[in-house]
Amino acid sequence: MQKYLKQVEAVCPNHLERSKVLVNSFLSGPGPKLQHHLLERRQKMVNWATEWWLDDMYFSIPLPLPININPGLALRPKKFSNQQEAAIFLARFLMELLNYQETLDRKELEVEYVKTRDGKRMQPLCMAQHYQILRLYRKPGEVRDEHIVLDRTTSGDHIIVAHYNQFYSIPVRASDRGRITEMEMIQQLLKIMETPADPRTPPVGILTTSSRPIWARARQELLKNEQNRHNLELLERCLCIVCIDEDVLPVTFNESYKKNDCWINDRDYANVLHHCLHGGGSRYHGANRWFDKTLNVILGKDGMWGMVYEHSTGEALAISNAFETLTDNVDAMQPLEENLVPSHLPSPEKLEWKLSDRSLNDIREAIASFDSLVEDLDLCVLWFDDYSKEFIKACKISPDAYIQLALQLTYFRLHGHLVATYESASIRRFAAGRVDVIRAASPETLAWVKAMCQGDPELQNDTQEEGTKRGQQIKEFFDLAVQRQTNEIADNINGYGIDNHLIGLRYAAKEMGEGMPELFNDEAFQIVHHFSLSTSQVTTKNDAIIGYGPVVPDGYGCCYNVRKNAIIFSISAFHSDGRTSARKFAQTVESSLRDMAEMLKNAQSTR
Ligand code: COA
Repeated sequence: MQKYLKQVEAVCPNHLERSKVLVNSFLSGPGPKLQHHLLERRQKMVNWATEWWLDDMYFSIPLPLPININPGLALRPKKFSNQQEAAIFLARFLMELLNYQETLDRKELEVEYVKTRDGKRMQPLCMAQHYQILRLYRKPGEVRDEHIVLDRTTSGDHIIVAHYNQFYSIPVRASDRGRITEMEMIQQLLKIMETPADPRTPPVGILTTSSRPIWARARQELLKNEQNRHNLELLERCLCIVCIDEDVLPVTFNESYKKNDCWINDRDYANVLHHCLHGGGSRYHGANRWFDKTLNVILGKDGMWGMVYEHSTGEALAISNAFETLTDNVDAMQPLEENLVPSHLPSPEKLEWKLSDRSLNDIREAIASFDSLVEDLDLCVLWFDDYSKEFIKACKISPDAYIQLALQLTYFRLHGHLVATYESASIRRFAAGRVDVIRAASPETLAWVKAMCQGDPELQNDTQEEGTKRGQQIKEFFDLAVQRQTNEIADNINGYGIDNHLIGLRYAAKEMGEGMPELFNDEAFQIVHHFSLSTSQVTTKNDAIIGYGPVVPDGYGCCYNVRKNAIIFSISAFHSDGRTSARKFAQTVESSLRDMAEMLKNAQSTR
């Protein structure tokens, strides 16, 4: 409760007095009983928080999955000189994915550990989410979504390929003949790749972009027909969706901050991230996806290689690590020596739909709402390479704490106040643990960002002595903010974050049927949970662009990938808000990081 009040103090100080009163009446009223309920729950369950957290974070949120929920990731593009080479790459990736799936089936995944700074293993991390990623399907619900747990005896032995909005099923393993060979996989993929677009193909995949209750109702309509039921069964029970996109997104989707940033031809990083997140809407590849499925891997016509994944099954690192490792394995393979030989397997099954007028109308409505969501997304990618984590470490500061403070300074510079800030903290030290929330907005951060901003113009009129003194004061505020942020990280990853706990108390109140305590219905509580800055560190093995949309209409999404010599920021906002701008945020992050380095260098020289 004290930590909660610190949040109120940082983001809505005018509510502080009332919040203190509400906290006191909670502590002397329903609080202890609810806490006791949690303690009892802890005795009965492996993890008292995760099920409620999953409901609160994902299943009860009606928003469409693309942009709002599902993150996108792009690795460096592949270079193919013809379609055959693309099919070989994809087939090899899928063979590697089958190997990975078999490792999971045998429960042989190497356990990850928390390590000391010199690399010594300390504590094992829960691997449950790794095992469930390929085994869960997110089914839409009119009230709330749910996971379908896929039984390996009836699922995961075929893949679905999406090409020109048409879905195909390729069986990859059968009990009578074992696993498909690499050569057979190549041939099956080529058969699909060589099939031209058919303008009559209904873009059924677009239905998965609707808000969850709307999609749930549209799915019920599809299920009335037996052929559609069969298709849905195949889509839901497949190992993954492979999206082969036969077009690129136009340069109107470009918006990287530094010009001539380019991985592929005219595209920039923002363009590639747009492609991963939503496929460019219905005019491009938005229907060439099945967003409910955890893994949609995407191969673009120009070699773009990435994925979009459903988030409720696991965190980015579990998924991106596997994706990168499998890609690395393929990249390390020798070119295929043998000539391609025709396979005798039956052609991949084409999923034909029988659509009622109502379903056709559902599709039209899904197209309209998805396209306006796509148009609203404002993305900008900043590849900051002035310095990276080694400089920050040399200053004896946690790089993650430092970057979070840079984001706080950025938000304050743009909007003149701090906001509730979300950063995912892995709690995999606990069985079935997912994440809690590192909250970077704090009274200490506020004091520092105010000092930074007040200092800027005035410093120019300062005498040298005054300037030095002011610089020292700012550095003192900064040290306090760093200290507090470092403790906040440690608290969260060790299970002392406040967000899972508050969710638990709220759900306990619901479960006990005694009415919601006033504290949780108060405006301050809503403000403290309105995450206008939603951030996450996703550091990959290789260069990668990763991002997601804002979680509130007036917010920013900010994902950062800490490279050896750079930090890649993917920033998102919504154009319709009018007050936010991904580009301005990116520009300001860059100046904040430069100013902070300057501040540290000045502090060192005046010591
Ligand atoms: N002085 C010098 N070095 C320091 C330091 C200090 N005061 N504090 C930390 N470091 C070092 C660390 O030892 C580490 O060294 P390494 O480069 O050898 O690994 C490095 O700086 C990075 O540490 P830090 O920046 O503190 O962060 P972290 O790597 O421990 O990550 C979190 C912090 C919160 C991001 C991490 O714990 C976490 O939860 N990650 C998961 C996030 C997630 O789930 N994202 C996906 C959501 S979908």
